Order: sequence, then structure tokens, then C-alpha cells
Amino acid sequence: MSFKALTPGATIGILGGGQLGRMTALAAARLGFRCHVFATEPDSPGEQVCNRATVAAYDDGDALDGFAAAVDVVTFEFENIPADAVRRIATTTPVRPRPEILEITQDRLREKDFLRAIDIATTTYREISDATALARAMHDFGYPAVLKSVRMGYDGKGQVTLTPETRPDEAWRRMGGEIGILEAYVDFACEISVIVARGQNGALATYPPVENQHTRHILDTTIAPERIAPEIAMRAEAIARHVAEKLDLVGVLAVEMFVTQAGEVLVNELAPRPHNSGHWTIDACITSQFEQLVRAICGLPLGSVEHHSDAVMKNLLGDDVERWREALNDPAAKLHLYGKREVKPGRKMGHVTRLFPHR
Ligand SMILES: Nc1ncnc2c1ncn2[C@@H]1O[C@H](COP(=O)(O)OP(=O)(O)O)[C@@H](O)[C@H]1O
Ligand SMILES: [Mg+2]
Repeated sequence: MSFKALTPGATIGILGGGQLGRMTALAAARLGFRCHVFATEPDSPGEQVCNRATVAAYDDGDALDGFAAAVDVVTFEFENIPADAVRRIATTTPVRPRPEILEITQDRLREKDFLRAIDIATTTYREISDATALARAMHDFGYPAVLKSVRMGYDGKGQVTLTPETRPDEAWRRMGGEIGILEAYVDFACEISVIVARGQNGALATYPPVENQHTRHILDTTIAPERIAPEIAMRAEAIARHVAEKLDLVGVLAVEMFVTQAGEVLVNELAPRPHNSGHWTIDACITSQFEQLVRAICGLPLGSVEHHSDAVMKNLLGDDVERWREALNDPAAKLHLYGKREVKPGRKMGHVTRLFPHR
């Protein structure tokens, strides 16, 4: 589909009502664009900052058609949007990144097969279809290993770490998915991610690798930029660019990676959207990951990824959110709250970025 660049005043449709859509809408508003959120719940973080919202299920055809007709381009802020919904919208309205990219990345097996096909190293993995196959694979892989649901997992949901004591049937039940993927556990030195934006014309803008520290499989802290050997940083950036090009991405892509003790870089996961590990770019970079997304999907030039400060971003998970006042009293901190009413353990309620300006 040929695509004319959009200019300020145009409307961006955002599938998903979470904080990533909220921060995209805020960046869009700054550039004079309007946003229209499609969310399954009322009063979502995204809806709160948009001038229009559709609240409906992802299989509500009329709602999808009305949404598609009301906007000039559609993007998504959440990977688990049903593929049928996105394909339906794409018949009338440009979707960026293209729907096929979403379909690859919402399926851990397709994602790893894709990476393998483009010569990107990952941990060893195998498709698992039932508890018997799991028992066999556990024997072959050794321990520890990680069983993940192929679809619908995020923030560690649908993941089980396997040890010699784990019973396969029990692990299979806890994983909860229809199809699983077993991965050899990576004894990593650190976890990093690279965010890359790619424009309509193929131009690339790559942020430096950052270090991500997880607790219970949920991102806790991002240190930006990561203090790794420049040679590893260069390899990580090259991997991210290669993936973005092979996906023919228009938008923003996050590539989560493990750096092994031996200095190898293995890709863990792809996210074809702004990413939690890129929140630091809002306060520390000339152009944030959210603004890059808006620029890319509207066919506009990408911005500078230069950072004027180093940064440490900490998520406010669950009850942590009660510490918002502390952040307001910290002269180095920028507070971001997502407007979620209900606090649940591990829920991403906001984040705080502490800045260390370059002198
Ligand atoms: N094969 C693995 N080896 C070691 N740690 C892992 C492995 N897979 C996942 N993890 C840990 O769990 C976290 C979340 O897993 P991930 O596959 O990124 O799923 P998601 O972010 O979608 O929940 C990772 O960032 C990492 O800390
Ligand atoms: Mg992940």
C-alpha cells in the first residue's frame, strides 16, 4: 500500500489502552497529532490522555471498522492483539508496523524460528505440545530450563523454571498455554536491550544498549546506557538493525538480549513497539522512543537519538506507587504515573527516571 506522509492534525489510532499507548499519545500530542485509542476497558491509561476512544472487544467487527474509518494510520502498543482484528483494520487503513510483524512476535516459536532463519543466535529451544513431550525434552535439555507458553505471555506470565525436582505434568499445568516452548536456561552476565526505530524510507535510528534488571521475570530497573565493552555494544546494535531490516519494520522495535559469561550476545525476545526499557529516552534523549514511533508511522523523518544525560529508570510495581511523593522530592528524578486505579502486585503503575546530566 503506498502511503503519503501524515502531517500534524492527522489522527493516529492506537490498539491497546496501556501505558505504552498513553506515552505514545502524549508524544503525538506534542507534535500536533490526535490519537484515538481502541481499548477493551473504559478509563484506560491511554484513553485518559486521548481525545477519542473506542471501548470494545477485539472481535467486535463494527467497532474495529468504525475505529479504522476514524483514523489515518493505526499502530499497536500491545503484542497480544488478535491477528484477525489487525488484519481486518489493515484492509482499509495502513497499519504500522505491518500486521505480519505482530504475528511473528506474538508467537515465541515463530519469533525464534524467524531469528534462526536470519542467522541471529538464541538459546536452544524446542516446541512442546504436551506433558509427555516435556518430560522427554527436560531429559535432553538438562537443568535449569524455562518452559514458556508460546502465546499470550508477558511480564513472566506463563513461565515456569524447571529444576530436576520439577514434575513435568505439574509444570505443564502451571504454564497454562496450549503450546509450550522449552528453552535452555541462559546463565547470563547481564541482560540488555536495544531499541531501534525505522522510518518509512528505511532510515534507522538506534539507541545505545541499556542494562535491564528483572525481579521475578518483571523489569525492575534499566541502566542507560549500559557499561559493557564497546565491542559487545556494537554487536548488539548491529543485531537490532539487522532484525528491523529483515522484518521490514516501520516503527519501533525492542530487542531483548542476554550477554553470556563468554561475551556472546543471544536474542531473547522481540517487541515491535515502544518498550519499558526505553522509557529513559523520554527524559534523557533528544527524541524519545515514543516520538520516534509517531515520526516513523507518519512517514516523517526520525529524530536524534542522542542522550544529554545518563539515566536509571525504576518501575513502580504494585505498592511501590505509594512512593511517588519521594520521587517528587528528589531533584534528579522525573516521575511518570500511568493513571491506573487498581493496584495489583507486580502491576506496572508508573516509573521514575533519575537523570545524571553530562557536564
Ligand atoms: N532462557 C532463559 N534463560 C534465563 N533467563 C530467562 C530465560 N527466559 C526468560 N528469562 C528471564 O525471564 C525474563 C522474562 O522472560 P521473557 O522471555 O522476556 O518473557 P516476557 O518478557 O514476555 O515475560 C527475562 O527477561 C529473563 O530475565
Ligand atoms: Mg521480555
